[in-house]
Amino acid sequence: MKIVSIVGARPQFIKEAVVQREIRKYSDMQEIIVHTGQHYDKNMSELFFGELEMPHPKYVLEGRASRSHGEMTGQMMIDLEKIIQEENPDLVILYGDTNSTLAGGIVASKLKVKTAHIEAGIRSFPKDIPEEMNRMMVDCISNYLFCPSDLALRNLERENNYGKLYMTGDVMYDIFFHLRDRFNREIRKTLGLEKGNYVLMTMHRDFNVDRKEILEEILLEINKISKEVPVVYPVHPRTAKKIKEFGLKKLISDINTIPPIGYLDLMGLVQDCWKVITDSGGLQKEAYFSGKMACVLLEDTGWSELIDKKINYLVNVKNLREILFSKEVTVFEPGIYGDGKAAEKIVDILRTEFL
Ligand code: UD1
Repeated sequence: MKIVSIVGARPQFIKEAVVQREIRKYSDMQEIIVHTGQHYDKNMSELFFGELEMPHPKYVLEGRASRSHGEMTGQMMIDLEKIIQEENPDLVILYGDTNSTLAGGIVASKLKVKTAHIEAGIRSFPKDIPEEMNRMMVDCISNYLFCPSDLALRNLERENNYGKLYMTGDVMYDIFFHLRDRFNREIRKTLGLEKGNYVLMTMHRDFNVDRKEILEEILLEINKISKEVPVVYPVHPRTAKKIKEFGLKKLISDINTIPPIGYLDLMGLVQDCWKVITDSGGLQKEAYFSGKMACVLLEDTGWSELIDKKINYLVNVKNLREILFSKEVTVFEPGIYGDGKAAEKIVDILRTEFL
């Protein structure tokens, strides 16, 4: 069985790491990795392949992210079409909700190559954010839909897409579980942070960072928070560019800002932090895996089971401080995203279907 796996952005390298390891256990399965080039900075890409012990992609495209959505997705489609025609796989694996996922999904489906969507069924409503559009469109056209949670499965059951549905659990929990002994706990000390006494923050989504007034308001608030509890903030390149462009550098002078870091470093920081502030889909769950409450800087989230169970909280710039400093005790119900064997289940299903 021949598989082409398409990755391009940071969270996809992490998900692919655990799936490729499972595929590689079988000599009758061959996998070719294509990197669309959506994330290209060393800290956003190369670093992950090294530390997650992944083979280098056979193809690396010049997908450069600074382009508009249409241009980026379009260029990826042109390049991916040639590769899929050339490789002629039995299956294309797609991850998550990025422009790379969408480009791969459209091209493979039109070439009548079967597709599997890992992390299917996530819905955050409203529909006008790029990630929500990407995940909905890819779920519509995929043949195998692997859901990370019961809620994701229920979302898809309602939609009546034609692909086959499976609840496998979340591959991000698998990798967390497998690599937990290698998380870098030293990084906290290097950054001068005290165990249990700092907030870990990440923020890169377009609606939070692309408009000056919004970004300024959020950074002002974070600045205030950092006077009460240290905030460490690995800054995504999108946000770094905007901070510079809008002349907001003075607002981050009290925040412990660092360049983007790898998975093992980030997980090291989550383990020892007090709480998390984030707009990242992945970190919302990784905070939960680590037993930390996360303030989610979004209007809505695809991981709403964590909100319903009062593990995470949706926040905006007005209520962020109040929720962050609230005394409410979080109860971490285990098992929401499976048992750490999602990749094994996915590969078993694919073997039953194709071999
Ligand atoms: C993308 C995904 C998002 C995912 C996130 C993880 C889409 C629509 N969004 O958002 O779902 O949560 O990745 O990080 O696909 N840039 C660099 N260097 C890089 C990568 C990006 O400078 O290595 C810059 C680009 O030039 C661009 C900006 O960051 O200006 C945005 O990159 P893009 O890939 O569009 O979106 P992300 O915000 O990373």
